[in-house]
Amino acid sequence: MMGGITHCRFLKAPVTKLEAKSPKSAVWTITAVVTLTTDLGETFYEDNATLEAILYRNGPGSAETAVLSKTVDWTFPMRALKVVLQVDAAKCNPKHQYFLRVGEKDRKAVQDVWGQYMMVQGRTSVLPIWSLPFRLGQKTKELFVERRLQIRDDRVLKVVEETGESIARHIWDAGLSASLVLASLDNERSNLASPELRKAIRACLNRDHVNILELGAGCGTFGITFATLFENCLVTLTDLGLAKEIADLNLKANSLGDRAKFVELDWTEPLPEHYKTSFGLVIMTDCTYNSAYFEPLVGVIDAVLNNNNRLLMAYKRRHEDEKEFFELMEAKGLEVTCRTKVAIEGDTETAQHADLASLRSNRGLFPWTSTPPKPRSLTKRHRSIASAHCTGRIHISFLLPCSQKVAQLPTTASGAFNDTAPTKLVHFKPVPYCTVR
Ligand SMILES: C[S@@+](CC[C@H](N)C(=O)[O-])C[C@H]1O[C@@H](n2cnc3c(N)ncnc32)[C@H](O)[C@@H]1O
Repeated sequence: MMGGITHCRFLKAPVTKLEAKSPKSAVWTITAVVTLTTDLGETFYEDNATLEAILYRNGPGSAETAVLSKTVDWTFPMRALKVVLQVDAAKCNPKHQYFLRVGEKDRKAVQDVWGQYMMVQGRTSVLPIWSLPFRLGQKTKELFVERRLQIRDDRVLKVVEETGESIARHIWDAGLSASLVLASLDNERSNLASPELRKAIRACLNRDHVNILELGAGCGTFGITFATLFENCLVTLTDLGLAKEIADLNLKANSLGDRAKFVELDWTEPLPEHYKTSFGLVIMTDCTYNSAYFEPLVGVIDAVLNNNNRLLMAYKRRHEDEKEFFELMEAKGLEVTCRTKVAIEGDTETAQHADLASLRSNRGLFPWTSTPPKPRSLTKRHRSIASAHCTGRIHISFLLPCSQKVAQLPTTASGAFNDTAPTKLVHFKPVPYCTVR
């Protein structure tokens, strides 16, 4: 069973070839091979899907025009799907730049960018892929591809990622989902984030300047979303040196100027002293996948959190060991203060939701919960483990030192986080779709 977002990927980036059908008619053939898989690439899409490949041209002033489209069927148990488009050479200009987008064909409207379908109940949404621009007849750059994420009606986030297997140079489900939650902050119709989480994030952003530190940023999806959406945010993306190239590409692609930068930071190396006091918000997505790094990572988090800042983290549950991360955090006095579960599959898993609720009330961490759920017949440790058992969901948590939290949080609340309601869709308006010619 696939867990999470379905990523469309190029196994072979588009290759172009001029073929003469007759002395008078020639066609450009554009061939690519795609697959549908998870962020980790460990399984393939286990259902049928109708995909659409669209060839775009970058015209003068870089307006994008759809030149040609073709529908192709992904049928279970496929692992790779060849996409071949042919376009009349007389209608093409080899001096123009072209690019190929492959994504799910929607019955109502073609999804040009991604976001609006993510939370649809009962289905997993396919994340479309865009090749980087290429010229007909020239070899394409196989290394990078682009994702486009609608984060506001008028803003599309561009995230470049590598086609290879590098963990740091990929996009990950938690980063994508957390970015959409952030984008829904001002959308009062959306309950993608719990009211408490919204309030807490807003409180952090309610300053003239907010210095944000992103740990293990990789491509920088989440940090770049902050800098793109909130002009008062100055974001430092950090990761190992191997992420620098892709992070810099993404900073450039989103024209953030000096409001965001990449700095190398290895959790296993001594932390520069100024990190301990410089940041009003620390963010992290999908960094709890490797238990070998839990201790140094928690050490860094402990060092950079103080009485005036917060950690906002998102993770996709991948294995049992993740509970150790939260145990280490607890041992440092760092506990979850509010949590949002973003359903990226259609199931509701109500039992697990209930376990999460018990965990909160038992610890007294959520004094705003007006009607604490009844304790279940699980030990505290079991509840802690059960809380991590939400396969296929993204957890977005807000952490801060607990000594300070109790003093700051309200003792009553309206609108306590509804644990049993399935996470709802946030409506992202699609970018106007170009007519296919
Ligand atoms: C699964 S990726 C997540 C990337 C990004 N946050 C996202 O959500 O797309 C985990 C990231 O942690 C980084 N990482 C792993 N070990 C690290 C270390 N010792 N110091 C700093 N970063 C590290 C990896 O390089 C990688 O970019």
